[in-house]
Amino acid sequence: MTREKTTNAVEVRGLVKHFGTTKAVDGIDLDVREGTVMGVLGPNGAGKTTLVRMLSTLLQPDAGTAHVAGYDVVRQPRQLRRTIGLTGQYASVDEKLSGWENLYMIGRLLDLSRSEARRRADEMLERFSLTEAAKRPASKYSGGMRRRLDLAASMIGRPRVLYLDEPTTGLDPRTRNEVWDEVQNIVADGNTVLLTTQYMEEAEQLANELTVVDRGKVIAEGRVQELKAKVGGRTLEIRPADQGELHRMVGALAQAGLDGVGGATASEDAGVVSVPIVSDEQLTAVVGLLSERGFALADISTHLPSLDEVFLALTGQTATHEDDRDAIEEVAA
Ligand SMILES: Nc1ncnc2c1ncn2[C@@H]1O[C@H](COP(=O)(O)OP(=O)(O)O)[C@@H](O)[C@H]1O
Ligand SMILES: [Mg+2]
Repeated sequence: MTREKTTNAVEVRGLVKHFGTTKAVDGIDLDVREGTVMGVLGPNGAGKTTLVRMLSTLLQPDAGTAHVAGYDVVRQPRQLRRTIGLTGQYASVDEKLSGWENLYMIGRLLDLSRSEARRRADEMLERFSLTEAAKRPASKYSGGMRRRLDLAASMIGRPRVLYLDEPTTGLDPRTRNEVWDEVQNIVADGNTVLLTTQYMEEAEQLANELTVVDRGKVIAEGRVQELKAKVGGRTLEIRPADQGELHRMVGALAQAGLDGVGGATASEDAGVVSVPIVSDEQLTAVVGLLSERGFALADISTHLPSLDEVFLALTGQTATHEDDRDAIEEVAA
């Protein structure tokens, strides 16, 4: 069967997967342009893994269509599997084998010749800075090394489309940064990546575009900056020269009651006072008032809302986590 005509690396239309009464994926549309990173952002239980499993041919959709690199997930599973790479939330490496053996084995499973599999294993170990650890069993690898080995494994077959399903969930911040660097390199090589994540920061770091999912449905999509702008407003952060002045500053702003300026809050940890604003005039008014009252300011900055705040604004609620949802359903029943 030949490839069907599609303009995107991934094209999903009305995809559905229900498990009993659970609508894991409930009519998702998704387009990923070639050479871009699509972030699929959603809380635990949103349906991200179910979506990825359908796009990997590991799970049959109940309804809808999906094409990856032009191949239909249902009718052309074999061809499709050859064009994709998958890194799951749980490392899929064999603990007893060395890093090199893991990669060689995967190469052989992908029908590479012995010499080609050997060459590819060496290349990928080098590429993901694991050459020195090549002969050590994977069980001796650190968390970060394991994730790198996992990424290396998913790249063995030179996939045109790579799925990264929550690649950094459960990692400490330093290891997370290591994985981000590797993903950025993979992206820089011109690969198409579908990345699922629960972390707003991760989506912002790695993705060109975002699809926000909750309860099996797309609740928002667009470029990261667009989604942020949709929510409107900025936060003004002011750092007083004297950290002891934080609360007096909040008091002065509350007393002044500047037009349209939201309630100021002090963060002792960050050493700043945060003030929600919607216009440049308000920024000027806040800073003007503080200097009028004799506060010495060390730093002023404004920033767009975090994606957590975006999620809140889009859904009118914080990201629903599975446990909360069960609790909500229990109460409703
Ligand atoms: N094999 C399965 N059988 C029954 N329910 C499942 C199965 N896989 C996932 N689910 C349910 O489908 C929903 C979406 O799960 P999942 O796709 O794993 O979400 P995410 O990856 O976003 O955390 C959840 O409510 C989950 O419990
Ligand atoms: Mg998942």
